[in-house]
Amino acid sequence: MSTISFARGVPAPECLPIEDLADCARTAIERDGAAALLYGHTLGYQPLREWLGERHDVEPARVIVTNGSLQAFHFVLSALAGAGRVIVERPTYDRPRRILSSFDEVAVDDEGLDLGELERVLAAGGPPAFLYTIPTFQNPTGVTLSEERRRQLAELAADRNLRILEDDPYGLVRFEGEPLPSLFELEGGRNVIYSSSFSKTIAPGIRVGYVVVPEAMGAGLEETVASTYITPALIGQATVLEFLRRGLLDPNLERVGELLRARRDAMLAALERELGGRARWSRPEGGYFLWLELAEGTDATELLLRATSAGVTFVPGPDFGGEPNSVRLAFSFASPDEIDEGISRLATALEPVSEGRAGIGVAARD
Ligand SMILES: Cc1ncc(COP(=O)(O)O)c(C=O)c1O
Repeated sequence: MSTISFARGVPAPECLPIEDLADCARTAIERDGAAALLYGHTLGYQPLREWLGERHDVEPARVIVTNGSLQAFHFVLSALAGAGRVIVERPTYDRPRRILSSFDEVAVDDEGLDLGELERVLAAGGPPAFLYTIPTFQNPTGVTLSEERRRQLAELAADRNLRILEDDPYGLVRFEGEPLPSLFELEGGRNVIYSSSFSKTIAPGIRVGYVVVPEAMGAGLEETVASTYITPALIGQATVLEFLRRGLLDPNLERVGELLRARRDAMLAALERELGGRARWSRPEGGYFLWLELAEGTDATELLLRATSAGVTFVPGPDFGGEPNSVRLAFSFASPDEIDEGISRLATALEPVSEGRAGIGVAARD
């Protein structure tokens, strides 16, 4: 029995546009190898910075193209280090939780960040360095910040000079519903720093992410970036640019969206069949993840041990700051048939945990 992974937040192999990328890489090297094979601009491959500047309606000087967007998080953090505390969502992407030595948290509900709680957290401490948020198809919950809350949060950022890092690697990976404006667009990019990536829209192994920062921050970061890697890996950036110039992004998003929709649907149907009435889960319109809340008292970390023996894996919610009974399920990697089977295995693994816990609860009450 091979293990089915709901743990891996990566695309299925058939999502990768391998032949197109091979052709784009060849063209990129042949056309501009003399530049792309040397050290280039510290802040990224200049023609791609220009393309992204146009897309986001900013000067290219404000765009830093990095070896994946997690690197951009490190650069923003180093630019703002010492400016105060960092506020993150609860739950949130586990890597920033591990990178930050300390942080304050604000809950996420079905409509995204809880703005009432944000107000309370802002009032309760010193001025924050920044708020880190993933407003669209959040990792780990799959939840999207509603349009109303986006407008309120953008207004709050503008009124109070609240610096926000909007991490948006999944925004374009929408397979249902209408796109929403980003916080960056709503606020005008004065206080909102916008980071995104081609990991989910083209391929993670190409390692191309970027961040749009205020101009002074871009110039200020040059020394840090140069000391980190002199210049980022330019061949990947030149290849991405060729992919974009050929107009391949939109058709790829459509193709990948269909593959992901089928996976999400398979997961929702299997959850309903296996856990209907016994658990709650989010219903994302895009991205890679959904969030499962099991019956009160279920310990997701303990469940993972049983699930692994039953041939299915996931990441327990507490790794992201979630409740003990929460689970992140990635539907991006397994096939629809594997997803169906994997949720059955998960339900089987769940039985002894819930019964065991219920038994303990009854004994304790008596
Ligand atoms: C919310 C979020 N931000 C950033 C990243 C990092 O992406 P990359 O460094 O591949 O661009 C990920 C990867 O899963 C993510 O989920």
